[in-house]
Amino acid sequence: DVQRSLVLVKPDGVRRGLSGEILRRIEAKGYALAAVELRDATPELLAEHYAEHEGKPFYAPLVEFMLSGPVLAVVIEGQRCIEGFRSLAGATDPTVAAPGTIRGDLGRDWGLAVQQNLVHGSDSEESAAREIGIWFPQL
Ligand code: CMP
Repeated sequence: DVQRSLVLVKPDGVRRGLSGEILRRIEAKGYALAAVELRDATPELLAEHYAEHEGKPFYAPLVEFMLSGPVLAVVIEGQRCIEGFRSLAGATDPTVAAPGTIRGDLGRDWGLAVQQNLVHGSDSEESAAREIGIWFPQL
């Protein structure tokens, strides 16, 4: 099925000037960009986006990190792009993410309270619909 997925270039990726490289990889894979917007997250937006992580030990540092600078919010589109982008992104922990992936090639552990792992990608059709509704209610 043609799917849409919500991708975020997190503040570490934007700060390091990797937005273009990450969009390049998405486009090189063959996915279309349906929406791209640089914006500042808010505590309200993040509480919705990360509802499933509330109460976990990394939740507060995660929200603080996501508020530390602008994020590039992106909706991508293509056949099986939800699974496809997660494959492009690599494992959550950038230290062990496979080379060839965004996190494996561009990320590392900085010894901080939260994994600064450059990107987010929706993990299911349900999450994608929910997250696109949060970040791009007009879509
Ligand atoms: P993401 O999958 O986008 O959403 C949850 C985020 O929390 C994840 O990316 C990481 O940035 C962070 N995260 C997940 N697990 C841990 C962990 N065990 N320790 C620190 N940060 C984490």
